[in-house]
Amino acid sequence: MANAWFETVAEAQRRAKKRLPRSVYGALVAGSEKGLTVADNLSAFDQLGFAPHMANLPRERSMAVTVMGQDIAMPVIISPTGVQAVHPEGEVAIARAAQNRGIPMGLSSFASRSVEDVAAANDKTFFQIYWCGDKDTLLQRMERAKAAGAKGVIVTLDWSFSNGRDWGSPWIPEKVDLKAAVKLAPEVLARPKWLWQFARTFRIPDLTAPNMAKPGEKAPTFFGAYYEWMTTPLPTWEDLAWLRSQWDGPFMVKGVCRVDDARRVVDIGATALSVSNHGGNNLDGTPASIRALPAVVDAVGNQIEVVLDGGVRRGSDVVKAVALGAKAVMIGRAYLWGLAANGQAGVENVLDLLRGGIDSALMGIGKADIRDLDRGDVVAPDGFFRRLGE
Ligand SMILES: Cc1cc2nc3c(=O)[nH]c(=O)nc-3n(C[C@H](O)[C@H](O)[C@H](O)COP(=O)(O)O)c2cc1C
Repeated sequence: MANAWFETVAEAQRRAKKRLPRSVYGALVAGSEKGLTVADNLSAFDQLGFAPHMANLPRERSMAVTVMGQDIAMPVIISPTGVQAVHPEGEVAIARAAQNRGIPMGLSSFASRSVEDVAAANDKTFFQIYWCGDKDTLLQRMERAKAAGAKGVIVTLDWSFSNGRDWGSPWIPEKVDLKAAVKLAPEVLARPKWLWQFARTFRIPDLTAPNMAKPGEKAPTFFGAYYEWMTTPLPTWEDLAWLRSQWDGPFMVKGVCRVDDARRVVDIGATALSVSNHGGNNLDGTPASIRALPAVVDAVGNQIEVVLDGGVRRGSDVVKAVALGAKAVMIGRAYLWGLAANGQAGVENVLDLLRGGIDSALMGIGKADIRDLDRGDVVAPDGFFRRLGE
């Protein structure tokens, strides 16, 4: 058997592409419109550099931090992703991998596995919600997450239902019935390893969102849940202040890129915010989140925990973000590629790569503790940063 271990996240992505049916792979690639933001998230990290030392380097390095009330082994958090059909164990495999590597699990409300199963596998689970449904429904979802053992809530706000991609969107069936099976057969039969993984567990991907179920009812389909979200009136800042007041514990607002919005997130009493553009899946043309990070940190970094997500693929990316003021980063596609390539072990592989990369970068920069990084540790070209809003 070929070695299942992979050397970089790029290699995990190549294996995921070979292993997954075209539509499932396409759902993970995601992006929006022309793909400008998704590309900028990656290329912006490439434009940042280091100025390494070569002597007097620290013999031991520490990368433990505390975020959202949790002591974590390195400044990396699993970002919630609502994708289906990647692996039969889905988010439970991701949660176990994160637990084994001492980091928190962010679980999407559009995930394929229940918050009960996921929180049982990871004792630092944060449950992610969208503003979807009426207030009673939102409360009921948060109460369910709390009862399951979730330690925090992430409310994601940066979504504007933009659709259409220049490279085409994958076809996702409403449910996997005979008609869908016939239509998907050619691409699925071309991926026997993926099919066998599901076949041997007797689980077919049912494309439902169990965490969106109303009490006593069965899980809605992914699209049923999406329709509920699309038809919900959009939240105001007062609504968000109300939501925050209903959760007694760490509360993160995800999707901030403007300085003025960051201030309002502080005003509603959130614990943390994520500088994020939804991995480039939302409004195309939004700058890379790493470009917007320092301005947000300057405005609110002493009042709230600022984390970043978007484009993190290497340990050195984590170090760049922390040097520019993030307390931690959240990762999306990086762990999805690992899951697709090799299940739970693949996610652990990705986390080990990040850990190794953080350690090397700290050593090269000459910092013994990740909390001692500062902006001087990163080299940025002129005009790199963006200050969005006032
Ligand atoms: C396929 C996919 C599905 C996602 N679903 C969600 C979701 O359900 N909730 C959410 O808050 N963010 C979601 N995101 C955004 C991620 O949490 C995260 O912000 C993004 O993936 C970070 O960028 P990266 O993939 O470059 O690491 C999704 C991202 C992808 C790629």
